[in-house]
Amino acid sequence: MCKIMCVVGTRPEVIKMAPLVHKISQSNQFELCLVTTGQHKEMVGQAMELFQLKADVDLEVMKAGQTLTSITSRVLDRLEPVMQAEQPSVVLVHGDTTTTLAASLAAFYQKVDIGHVEAGLRTYDKYAPYPEEMNRQLVSRLADWHFAPTELARENLLAENIDAKSIQVTGNTAIDCLNLTLKQHYSHELLERMNGHEFILVTVHRRENLGVNMEHIFSALLDILDYFPNIHILFPVHKNPVVRELAEQMLQNHPRIHLSEPLNTVDFHNIAYRSLLILTDSGGVQEEAPSLHKPVLVLRNQTERPEGVDAGVLKLVGTDRETIAQSVTALLTDERSYQQMACGINPYGDGQAAERIIRVLEQHYASAQAAGRE
Ligand code: UD1
Ligand code: UDP
Repeated sequence: MCKIMCVVGTRPEVIKMAPLVHKISQSNQFELCLVTTGQHKEMVGQAMELFQLKADVDLEVMKAGQTLTSITSRVLDRLEPVMQAEQPSVVLVHGDTTTTLAASLAAFYQKVDIGHVEAGLRTYDKYAPYPEEMNRQLVSRLADWHFAPTELARENLLAENIDAKSIQVTGNTAIDCLNLTLKQHYSHELLERMNGHEFILVTVHRRENLGVNMEHIFSALLDILDYFPNIHILFPVHKNPVVRELAEQMLQNHPRIHLSEPLNTVDFHNIAYRSLLILTDSGGVQEEAPSLHKPVLVLRNQTERPEGVDAGVLKLVGTDRETIAQSVTALLTDERSYQQMACGINPYGDGQAAERIIRVLEQHYASAQAAGRE
């Protein structure tokens, strides 16, 4: 049977690969080998458990104060013998993390085909987001299959002379995932703690925002609470110690700010669905929120997901304290603008992305193997 190796390393990779991994494991045409690099430990563990995924191999690369170089070199070193032992026909990677790049390079060194899920996102700014923009551009050079979430992503790849036959527009698997998580009846201790008050959901973790940008963002949150005395803020804090330290220092004592551990994705999606709006620098949250009908103010100066900005469901507000506070105020005091953002159509997919990807893989790898046997 044809073996597919899926390599994940961070929270968003697990969440967005979960629908595809489920399909591969249910297929009678493929054997699955699920590898986690362990770039993230707790956050990957949380997501794997939630989606009932069990890694066949854990490279356990995470260490305190890890750098891009240390993650890359450890993944390269530890993946080589795994690939040699497992002999997959194709390795699937997702997105633009250090794990994504290192796993692609490891597969290339073994001359194994590479399928890139969520291919073709671009800012064309080498340092924003850093290092993700270069990671995904380099993976596009290495990959044999490019699963582009949108038509724009496909056009980006075509403009880089990538063979049209190797690109499939599939939608983003993030939207598939929402089908697994959203619940009509839902309660959570954090919602009870806010006692029915409206709340803004916040996530921040991007490398470009660590330091002074994050200080500006957190100051803006405090300003917003001053302007709106009945609103609360819920902030599930990333495990990155740099984010946690500043969040605790600047935000922890405010009675209407609720800092929590990272939420499992069922909780995150259901809580997001009950929020008033979302402030985030996350990539995945930009894709999910339009399906939850929540306006998203993006705490970045540029995005590789301009489809949502064009559709009017995302707005880039950057990291300037005043601009953030003013943008929230404008949205919360103008029902029409709020509704326009909340009611837009999600341009990132229809929940069928994993099905489209597996059909391509079946057509190519399972049929090739059958032909080989004849
Ligand atoms: C990485 C990805 C980024 C993605 C983000 C998702 C790269 C280059 N960037 O961010 O694209 O948006 O993950 O969250 O790969 N940590 C823990 N426990 C965990 C997870 C992280 O302690 O479960 C700590 C790590 O030890 C590290 C810090 O958090 O010190 C940041 O982790 P890292 O993998 O370096 O994240 P980023 O590169 O910032
Ligand atoms: N998410 C989660 N719990 C949280 C915050 C986010 O499960 O407390 C999910 C979110 O729904 C999305 C993904 O994590 O699917 C985004 O991951 P992250 O923001 O870490 O990375 P990015 O998408 O920016 O690469």
